[in-house]
Amino acid sequence: MTKLISRSDVIRIATMDKTVPIVESAFAHMAKGDVLMPPKIYLDLPDFSGDFRAMPAYYKPKKKAGIKWVNSHTNNPKIGKPAVSAILILNDPETADTLAIIDAGALTGIRTGAAGGVASKYCARAESKTALYVGCGMQAYYQILAQQIAMPMEKIVLYDLNSESATKMAHQLATEINAEVSVIDNLETGCKSADIITTTTPGRAHILKSEWVMPGTHINAIGADAEGKQELPSALTKKCRIIVDEWEQASHSGEINVPIHEKIIEKSDIAGTIGQCVIGDIQGRNNDDEITLFDSTGLAIQDLALAAYIYEQCESASQFNFNG
Ligand SMILES: NC(=O)c1ccc[n+]([C@@H]2O[C@H](COP(=O)([O-])OP(=O)(O)OC[C@H]3O[C@@H](n4cnc5c(N)ncnc54)[C@H](O)[C@@H]3O)[C@@H](O)[C@H]2O)c1
Repeated sequence: MTKLISRSDVIRIATMDKTVPIVESAFAHMAKGDVLMPPKIYLDLPDFSGDFRAMPAYYKPKKKAGIKWVNSHTNNPKIGKPAVSAILILNDPETADTLAIIDAGALTGIRTGAAGGVASKYCARAESKTALYVGCGMQAYYQILAQQIAMPMEKIVLYDLNSESATKMAHQLATEINAEVSVIDNLETGCKSADIITTTTPGRAHILKSEWVMPGTHINAIGADAEGKQELPSALTKKCRIIVDEWEQASHSGEINVPIHEKIIEKSDIAGTIGQCVIGDIQGRNNDDEITLFDSTGLAIQDLALAAYIYEQCESASQFNFNG
């Protein structure tokens, strides 16, 4: 029987302490070739400042296949709707049975957060203490939760064009994480004192200047996940050690897509994938002076790995209830 898994069940089951290792393992399996994952397909809707994406994958380690149908609509928050929401269909790859239909809006944020956390763990300097978040919407929230699981920070610094969003998030985090949380309005100072900078804006503007980013900083660039989107100046990207989640997607729609298109960087400028870092093929960083950049576009395999876990938990809970 097909399970319908709600947003509240996803949030209850996919806690960040469980999700970070699941996503880390999915990246490792990806690097080892244990997955099938064509690049996501975009349905662009410029009339509505948005798009839909179809993201299929087969995750061999859990013997699950499936597809996520997800959107990104920049103006939605202005009318009280989330910028990103999604539905995921989970299948048995052998019989094609539909195992579950999952409300995957929160799942998307949770697995994206986990990717940033994993990237910080492999790329940031070990003594990093301060993380700056540029853009304080839904993705930033999950980035922070994951950061505090994967590589806890002493200070979390929040910046948003709309300072109310940053203040609201600071209040929410005060009871949820064990770190000093502050809101800033001077981005230059914030960048200069950050060990890790995570950007989660709609990705249509250069939100910071290259010279504000100090040697040794790690950047998680999360917001640019469609063609033409870019959060960082190309000059900054050019001087970073760049780790992508997946080359095809990153060059088409990630933070690097614009500098690649402009021929400011090329494939040989990419150090490798986060999966290669996880399995030890490459190092996240080579020294304490490099600026490292993780370009996250979001992989279907992150969704599938987490969906498989959520489904397994629902299965075992329902069996327990039945037997009990
Ligand atoms: N890489 C991935 O896997 C992945 C996954 C999901 C979403 N995303 C992308 O992440 C982005 C953010 O998504 P969200 O759901 O958090 O959106 P959101 O609308 O909830 O939050 C975005 C925040 O950024 C702020 N902002 C906008 N421009 C800014 C600027 N120039 N400087 C500082 N703050 C600014 C907004 O005020 C808002 O608070 C979107 O572009 C989305 O497509 C990426």
